[in-house]
Amino acid sequence: MIRNYKEQDIIEIEKLGKELNPNYKYIFNSQYKILILEELEKIIGFIIYTIVEDEIEIIDLVVNKNYRQQGKATLLLNEVLKKESICKKMTLEVRESNFSAIKFYDKHGFKVVNIRKKYYFDEENALLMVKMVK
Ligand SMILES: CC(C)(COP(=O)(O)OP(=O)(O)OC[C@H]1O[C@@H](n2cnc3c(N)ncnc32)[C@H](O)[C@@H]1OP(=O)(O)O)[C@@H](O)C(=O)NCCC(=O)NCCS
Repeated sequence: MIRNYKEQDIIEIEKLGKELNPNYKYIFNSQYKILILEELEKIIGFIIYTIVEDEIEIIDLVVNKNYRQQGKATLLLNEVLKKESICKKMTLEVRESNFSAIKFYDKHGFKVVNIRKKYYFDEENALLMVKMVK
């Protein structure tokens, strides 16, 4: 089941976020929207995104490692597209070394349009990926 987030989910979001980055902290931003993927009342994934004009910007997308490669992230991505069907494109930044995420986005039609040099605190480059949805 995919549902909107509640304030008490932050603890679980931060735990799961550690699979993306060991120092993961959710920084509250009133512009951010969060969807939670739950199975048997356990949070197994989430997506954080924001809308800028007609663009969906994905901030974070994480699936619990025990539930990966079963279509869970695809469910979250599709739900955002359904909810924000007025938008024309989706964008995101991903670490150059994040092979599985790059493959995931590539499978979903995202294209690398730019490289942001030394984008992360440890100076790793980010790939800017974009998908036109209209
Ligand atoms: C990236 C991530 C969200 C994908 O979640 P998922 O639920 O496994 O993805 P889905 O099952 O919906 O999609 C599977 C597709 O993603 C890609 N993929 C996912 N994991 C992969 C892996 N370990 N190796 C290669 N491709 C992989 C493939 O394209 C795969 O399709 P295929 O099986 O036909 O090859 C998940 O690996 C994750 O949470 N990673 C840690 C957090 C992160 O890096 N997030 C992205 C940056 S915001």
